[in-house]
Amino acid sequence: MSKDTIVLAYSGGLDTSIAIRWLQEKYDADVITVLIDIGQGGEMEKNRAKAEEIGAVKSILIDAKEEFVEKFILPALKANAVYEDNYLLATALGRPLIAQLLVKVAAQENATAVAHGCTGKGNDQVRFDVSLKVLNPKLKIIAPAREWGLTRLSAIEYAKLHNIPLDGIIKTKTYSIDENLWGRSIECGVLEDAWFEPPEDAFELTAAPSAAPDIPTYVTIGFKKGIAVSLDGQQMEPLTLINSLQGIAGANSVGRVDHIENRLVGIKSKEVYECPAATVLHKAHQAMESMTLIRDLSHFKKIIEQKYAELVYYGLWFSPLRESLDAFIEVTQQTATGSVRVKLYKGNCTVVGRQSPFSLYDHKLATYETGDTFNHKAAEGFIHLWGLDLQTYGRVIRKALHPSHKAVVASEINCPLGV
Ligand code: ARG
Repeated sequence: MSKDTIVLAYSGGLDTSIAIRWLQEKYDADVITVLIDIGQGGEMEKNRAKAEEIGAVKSILIDAKEEFVEKFILPALKANAVYEDNYLLATALGRPLIAQLLVKVAAQENATAVAHGCTGKGNDQVRFDVSLKVLNPKLKIIAPAREWGLTRLSAIEYAKLHNIPLDGIIKTKTYSIDENLWGRSIECGVLEDAWFEPPEDAFELTAAPSAAPDIPTYVTIGFKKGIAVSLDGQQMEPLTLINSLQGIAGANSVGRVDHIENRLVGIKSKEVYECPAATVLHKAHQAMESMTLIRDLSHFKKIIEQKYAELVYYGLWFSPLRESLDAFIEVTQQTATGSVRVKLYKGNCTVVGRQSPFSLYDHKLATYETGDTFNHKAAEGFIHLWGLDLQTYGRVIRKALHPSHKAVVASEINCPLGV
């Protein structure tokens, strides 16, 4: 009888490397690894081959960078999705895509189970497992690191015992890092001290503010229907644009985040992020919308944005709620076309200019100078009706409190009945 096949999401790191052997032994199964390139950097082909050396019967490398940008990053950018005002969701957006590709490979390879390297303490296990269960409930899900409870030292011991080559796997590991083209998440080690400023060695994509140029860098982002399509006037694919902007913004120290975050699994954790390109694009996109959305839509979209960020963070990407919100957001993007000029300077990212063919900013209406077309006279009637109900309320309260029509002091208008 042929063995069962398990498809393992492989990163090239210690945990997923020993998981290859662990899965083979524990389940007496063949292991096929999938290394998914979503812009995490590192030597992809070398890592792919390493999985075969360790014992995978097959090792697949998938370049999913474009799909990641088109199907996950751009919708999240249109949604201005930011969790708890700080986290631009790089890791959280990558997980559903990885899950989707695991399911696809599992079908191609007739696998009965899929495996990932998440521990039992984070959000990522939830994002993987929920996505996998929606996409193919028949697949068994195995999370070796959640089961084996190995410390890092015993994982290294396990590797040595099983002749798993460790070169290139164990570096001096100070932090737990997850990276993709949208940003880098850094946790653990000294970062766990909530009072301790992250040391410079935690950062890779951003220069220290003190090492950043002493003069500002200006960039112009062109948008078409909410999608970033040009950088400094040059048309480019969003993926190329993100990569180019990453270097420019990172050199100016833009995109560092230090945040205490509410995890889905009920704990607060200290999170450090660096996301230079994402920071600039979020700011620029918001500036584009502030020029093109009418007030009530702009305010209502904020509610949708928060909901969107939460559902991405909570692992609910493959949900009808997300699809429905996407449909709403898509309508709002029809006028998000134009250019935004951004100034990058020693960690700051400031919008300094914007223009759009759909601009609702009408200089003639807004100006305090000559050429003003705003009807000042109409303001009086507007104010009269706008405040009419409060004016009526004030009159009634005043009369009730002071039948003698004595003047009432302003403070008595608030909570006049003494609530
Ligand atoms: N707190 C973030 C999230 O839940 C980042 C997790 C990053 N994982 C890591 N291994 N550093 O999305």
